[in-house]
Amino acid sequence: MYRRSFLETLGKTSLALPWTSILAGASVRVSAATAARSGVEPDVLARDEAFWREIAAEFSPAADFINLEYGYYHAAAVPTLEAELRAARDLHRRSSRYKRTQMREDHEAARLALASLAGVSPEEVAVTRNATESINTVIQGLDLMPGEEIVYSNQDYGSVVETLEQKAKRFGVMLREIALPLDPSSDEEVVQAYLAGFTPRTKLVVVTQMINLTGQVLPVRAICDAAHARGVEVLVDAAHAFAHVDTSIAELNCDYLGTSLHKWLCSPLGMGLLYVKREKISKVWPFMADMRLAATDIRKFEQLGTRPESAHRGILTAIEFHRAIGGANKLARLRYLHATWAQKVRTWPRARVLTPREARRHGAVGTLMIEGVDPKSLAQYWFNEHRLFTAPLGHPVIQGVRVTPGVPTPIAHIDLFVEAVQAALARFT
Ligand SMILES: Cc1ncc(COP(=O)(O)O)c(C=O)c1O
Repeated sequence: MYRRSFLETLGKTSLALPWTSILAGASVRVSAATAARSGVEPDVLARDEAFWREIAAEFSPAADFINLEYGYYHAAAVPTLEAELRAARDLHRRSSRYKRTQMREDHEAARLALASLAGVSPEEVAVTRNATESINTVIQGLDLMPGEEIVYSNQDYGSVVETLEQKAKRFGVMLREIALPLDPSSDEEVVQAYLAGFTPRTKLVVVTQMINLTGQVLPVRAICDAAHARGVEVLVDAAHAFAHVDTSIAELNCDYLGTSLHKWLCSPLGMGLLYVKREKISKVWPFMADMRLAATDIRKFEQLGTRPESAHRGILTAIEFHRAIGGANKLARLRYLHATWAQKVRTWPRARVLTPREARRHGAVGTLMIEGVDPKSLAQYWFNEHRLFTAPLGHPVIQGVRVTPGVPTPIAHIDLFVEAVQAALARFT
């Protein structure tokens, strides 16, 4: 139903807009490549380098280094960037007439497209600037009383934890941190870790769907079911999971979810999504007041003043691009890229992969530590000597180097990384 209404809206608006040819061009090329392999299982397609070369041709990475740090944000495909730039030129040409006559149409088209992708109602989706804003909106916007409790984990994202700490300091809310297992043997083990933090005063639990430090994917649905059975609401941080391991918010059955879209949806920079279950919208105060809208209207979360809608248009291309590859194909490829290096390296002495082994518990993001080697020195060595760009992590629980291939990464780059690990083991004795 939502898919249909999205297409109807897109049909109405896109005919008049200059970016349609770009949108069609990219998705037609990618769809043709995918259609030529129809019937091929995602796990088999994941190993088809010729197919992934066709997809990679839609990106334009820098030639002077090898990017194995697609985790901060994932570069947009060139057609997405072009759609955004064309829209930016259009906005500046038409100036305030655009804002006064067409802006809302672009907001609605982006909302419909995203809701369709996420399998939820457009009346539950707000387009924000990033995960930080979406998650802050919920934590700061919920009325919690002094002494009421929020449960979170020792591996949640730094700025999310800081938002919780500010909430505690400002309103007397109590925080309860639980310790997550690094390589759980069952979903139940993870659920039990969260439940260990619950008390009768627990009102909210914050769950990171994919841990940015290790790439571990958590069983969000099982956590939501267990929390709901105890009258506790769930806020999901899906910054790394959305359009990577999953796009279906409906299946998670959470109450609130925040994600960036410039990570794994490969959208223009500065785009995020906030999902709030319909009956919860009125409970959450928006960051920026908008008293003209009903408290139940999801659009109240989009009152951000003047912002560039060029990104809203670019996101339509990003969604078409994602759909043309196919979410399952993309996930299988990203898992394959990670598993190829992790499986080899984890058997070597002194090399410890901090990412779970089981395929369903990881995607592209992975973290490696070499015993006795400072992560910063290691990442620096790989960049200086091998031109491989990775991300060193210095975190109380996780010390290692994060290695994140992306959609355009060829398997040859993974092979280079494996060689670089071997070289590092010889270099740092
Ligand atoms: C788990 C997690 N949550 C939230 C964020 C914040 O995302 P953004 O900076 O796009 O708001 C990040 C960013 O890396 C993240 O990894």
